[in-house]
Amino acid sequence: MKTLTPLKESIGFTPGHATIKAAHILQKTKSKLGLSRPFPAFIETPIPDVDTLAIQDIDVSNPFLYRQNKWQSYFKRLRDECPVHYQNKSAFGPFWSVTRYEDIVYVDKHHELFSAEPIIMLGPVPEGLEKLETFIAMDPPRHDEQRKAVQSVVAPQNLKEMETLIRTRTAEKLDKLPTGVPFDWVQEVSIDLTALMLATLFDFPIDERTKLAEWSDIVGANPEGTGGQGNADDVYLAASEVMKRFSLMWREKEAQQKGGKALGFDLLSLLLKDENTKDMINNPLGFLGNIALLIVGGNDTTRNSMTCGVHMMHQLPEQFEKVKADPSLIPNMVSEIIRWQTPLAYMRRVAKQDVELNGKTIKKGDKVVMWYVSGNRDERNIDRPDEFLVDRKDARKHLSFGFGIHRCMGNRLAEMQLRILWEEMLERFDKIEVIGQPKYIQSNFVKGYESLQVRLTAKQSAPQ
Ligand code: HEM
Repeated sequence: MKTLTPLKESIGFTPGHATIKAAHILQKTKSKLGLSRPFPAFIETPIPDVDTLAIQDIDVSNPFLYRQNKWQSYFKRLRDECPVHYQNKSAFGPFWSVTRYEDIVYVDKHHELFSAEPIIMLGPVPEGLEKLETFIAMDPPRHDEQRKAVQSVVAPQNLKEMETLIRTRTAEKLDKLPTGVPFDWVQEVSIDLTALMLATLFDFPIDERTKLAEWSDIVGANPEGTGGQGNADDVYLAASEVMKRFSLMWREKEAQQKGGKALGFDLLSLLLKDENTKDMINNPLGFLGNIALLIVGGNDTTRNSMTCGVHMMHQLPEQFEKVKADPSLIPNMVSEIIRWQTPLAYMRRVAKQDVELNGKTIKKGDKVVMWYVSGNRDERNIDRPDEFLVDRKDARKHLSFGFGIHRCMGNRLAEMQLRILWEEMLERFDKIEVIGQPKYIQSNFVKGYESLQVRLTAKQSAPQ
């Protein structure tokens, strides 16, 4: 269960923070009076063999399918027997599952038929936060304007400038790791390196970086949205902390701008410099939504890819030997890791009109879920999809970053960070062992690891 540690300083009143507090109080009152939506309770039971189920009973929104790592055969059956599948009894309400590669690309590319609004997770927007705005869950033209305002933070020139800093931080982290004794890779490396990268993007205080990971975890663990283990109170508390911290940082940068000092190339500075977003702070739920998107978007995704790579190098030592012998394979291996992990299992859409898809009629207003995790294993489009191959041809053809107008904005940054990690790993370590069983996250959205105990063996010629 995720819990919040207190913010380092108390920042006093900000209008956005007050908006969130008011929504929280309203939600609590409604809940006491029995007027709020009932919260789904998820109780873990063993996932049955998929062949024992009737096709209409298959429910891939069950968060334990992922926690127990049993999703593969479920999606294979859907792809083969019912690629566009309707489930009307899930804890998240009725929804269509799109499970084949080509159908997923079709839905993702046809934003005029399938809307990303109001949310991209299976469950609803938390009560009182319905006006939360985030461009991943917006249709054009507003999506395009807001994306344009921030995308230069990951433009090639900015990435180049960040590369040295990311490499230095990665090297420092790896140099401090113990060798010959087990430790939790998720906690020690993946979480911290990802938080360091986000702190760089946001110009966020480095010594407070763990808050970035915490906030993201809480959003991802929202039971109503993803079937996670969090609780409603923490979602509002995290939202109000993000508002407080980032409003203050915004005001500081604004004062700097007014004082004639040039702004940098971090995210807040870019938003302040852009005509479309310079007043974003006056729309607290829009401000919060977009900041949260960038925190969450860059966090669990890269983190779980970092862990997956280590896990695979243990499981397939011959693949590790291949990369060690030819480090030029690293960028390809990074793409294969991202395909294999598929850190975000799906994105959700809502049909804007009746649509025929692979023989089924999806009605206007129906929820449609594009299961990237399934498309990435579709044997119709991916050769030997259940094999992890560092030298796979067309490794970048995976679906993990989506397609179309919402294609992941941070994809090059994530790839760069993973590439650097593996370049630095090969410099230092000869052997990676996973001790015991990995623990996976309970969520139907964030597909990832809770912990992975590893033991590293240093290379004889590792840097001192
Ligand atoms: C391996 C790492 C990552 C994966 C697998 C991933 C995956 C995704 C996916 C599936 C989408 C939605 C695509 C769609 O709807 O078609 C998305 C969107 C997005 N991602 Fe990532 N992401 C990763 C890393 C990052 C990073 C590091 C950032 C930080 C800048 C980021 C920021 C975003 C943003 C802002 C969007 C919204 C784009 C839009 O709506 O136009 N992501 N990502």
